[in-house]
Amino acid sequence: MSSLNDLKRKDLFQSKGYINGSWVDSSSSKTFDVVNPANLDRLATLPEMGASDCDKAVAAAHEAFKTYKKTSARERARLMRKWNDLVIANADDLALILMLENGKTLAEAKGEVLYGASFLEWFAGEAERIHGEYVPPANLNQRIITMRQPIGVAACMTPWNFPIAMITRKAGAALAAGCTTVWKPAGETPLSALAQAVLAQEAGFPKGAINVVTTLNNVAEVGKAICEDKRVKKMSFTGSTRVGKLLASQCANSLTKLTLELGGNSPFIVFDDAKLDSAVEAAIMAKFRNSGQTCVTANRIFVQKGIYDKFAEALTERIRKLKVGAGWEKDVFVGPLTHDRAVEKAMSHINDAKKHGGQVVLGGSPLERQKGYFIQPTVITHMNREMLTTREETFAPVVGLYEFDSEEQVLDWANDCDVGLGSFIQTENIARMWRVSEALEVGMVGVNLGLLSASESQFGGVKESGYGTEGGRHGIEEYLVWKSILINVAN
Ligand code: SIN
Repeated sequence: MSSLNDLKRKDLFQSKGYINGSWVDSSSSKTFDVVNPANLDRLATLPEMGASDCDKAVAAAHEAFKTYKKTSARERARLMRKWNDLVIANADDLALILMLENGKTLAEAKGEVLYGASFLEWFAGEAERIHGEYVPPANLNQRIITMRQPIGVAACMTPWNFPIAMITRKAGAALAAGCTTVWKPAGETPLSALAQAVLAQEAGFPKGAINVVTTLNNVAEVGKAICEDKRVKKMSFTGSTRVGKLLASQCANSLTKLTLELGGNSPFIVFDDAKLDSAVEAAIMAKFRNSGQTCVTANRIFVQKGIYDKFAEALTERIRKLKVGAGWEKDVFVGPLTHDRAVEKAMSHINDAKKHGGQVVLGGSPLERQKGYFIQPTVITHMNREMLTTREETFAPVVGLYEFDSEEQVLDWANDCDVGLGSFIQTENIARMWRVSEALEVGMVGVNLGLLSASESQFGGVKESGYGTEGGRHGIEEYLVWKSILINVAN
């Protein structure tokens, strides 16, 4: 399975935008190409949409909201379950599309499809748990209740690293809440979102409830148009802190409610008392998932003095065995990066670490292949806090190992950064587990594991990693508003 020709359902490959129930070109007739990062083959040519196309998408969602908001929670739950079932039934095809446009391995792509579906199942349940309150009145001549209502048109701006799961985490919550949606997938990976739109439509969501605006080069124009459009009441964005701040400033005038899941710089802390083998496996998961391109990737691996050498050696040997290649090749564990800028950034971080005394003990260069955005899995020891990776996400399979002395010191280092999304600790000491989990300035802590993702658990950060939360019990609240009703019951 290495080409779109291998799809069982050919209609899951779409190469147009989707507005008001129709597959459409851009109003300018401009296009852009989607490229397979493993061999640079062109996969598709898509409409380069702009502000005027966005206006049409928002108008369709705005119109559809007038009736969709009146559907019962039970009805929406059924639609969500149907969509979930269709995703699972077509998981192989969705995984193929995802692998081809993003570069992740087929096994990982399949994992993302199922992870993505889990948000649909989760929010199908949540749709029927949107409860209000009876408020005990101070004035006995009154009765007070509160209810929750869908906020309105929701824009879902999704990244290229999880093109399926980020659609379902955002649009799944929005549609379950009773909102209609405009999706703006990343220009590098729009095909997964378009395939999801096919399945959602088949599940029975009404015309206009789902619209997909495709763009690569007009992303700033489209983002601004969405933020400033007063018909859009909610925007959920996953991406960089730089763009998140820009969107927040553009939403200031319309006061559009925002959920921002932005960059991280996750500390991965291995204490002397950790179990070596499981700490190594957790590091592999936390660092190599999606070739290091996750917002919660282990970016700063802090290892306590007493275990540093043993851990560095065991981890390096484990990484040495990881096979790198195209996602469809046998036994491949690490795929290409999704675009060329990622290779440049990783190389600049490696070179910077070398300049500041880092020792590259494995890898350290782009992979020699004819084509594709590949980089060798890299391990650097003797990391120090002067280095760029201390402050910036590397977003590549590059492992930097810092040595620390004490719990106090590592907490200082871990918290000394502007962002706070994920974090990981490896320890067998339960008291330390509590102390460190509470002290880390982050939105999520993984203890003795390397994966933070679960549809039933909130996903979000603090500091410049953004605000609002996704998934879990609170994910749907981002798409709801409160309304109180005060009733005079006096005779
Ligand atoms: C992300 O990298 O933004 C999402 C990762 C996840 O949901 O596990």
